[in-house]
Amino acid sequence: MPHLHALLLEQAQLEKKAAAAANRFLFVLPQNANVQRSLSQLAREELVHFERTLRVIDQQQIAFVSMPPSRYASQLKVACESHLPQRLVDELLVSALIEARSCERMRCLARALPAALASVAEFYLDLVEAEARHHLVYVEAAMNQPGATNVAERFRMLALHEANTLATLPFTPHLHGGHGNAD
Ligand SMILES: [Fe+2]
Ligand SMILES: [Fe+2]
Repeated sequence: MPHLHALLLEQAQLEKKAAAAANRFLFVLPQNANVQRSLSQLAREELVHFERTLRVIDQQQIAFVSMPPSRYASQLKVACESHLPQRLVDELLVSALIEARSCERMRCLARALPAALASVAEFYLDLVEAEARHHLVYVEAAMNQPGATNVAERFRMLALHEANTLATLPFTPHLHGGHGNAD
């Protein structure tokens, strides 16, 4: 299947970044035990996903190299407020959107893989099961932030920005590739 190698290498990188993002929130958010527990569990799950992706990369006999970062995540953060505590709320909501989009795209990938790659499709579907929970962890964390106001309205605005970002990023064989209306 074309681009499978690049997609799996990118997947490894994205899982590692997802773990790092959750880990960072553990330190920068106000110390709420429930939120900390959920984010800690999420960070562990992302690292398990990273290790599982490495195993699939090995099984497919792909040379492990790092992939250049996509502009998707950095472009989403452009719309976050610059002042605290709203900035942290927005960053949590952006993480929720990234998780939800990743989940949707992994499900599409699993369905698109040919029968000869059934084990890789199963791998993606296993990840989807966990990823489907992750966006809710971030939405809940955002709603639990002291001083958080207009969370629903911010989420709507950031979701619109996310959709516009995908509409303008170039169409590339990446999990977060755009629809190709620019570049
Ligand atoms: Fe993951
Ligand atoms: Fe995730």
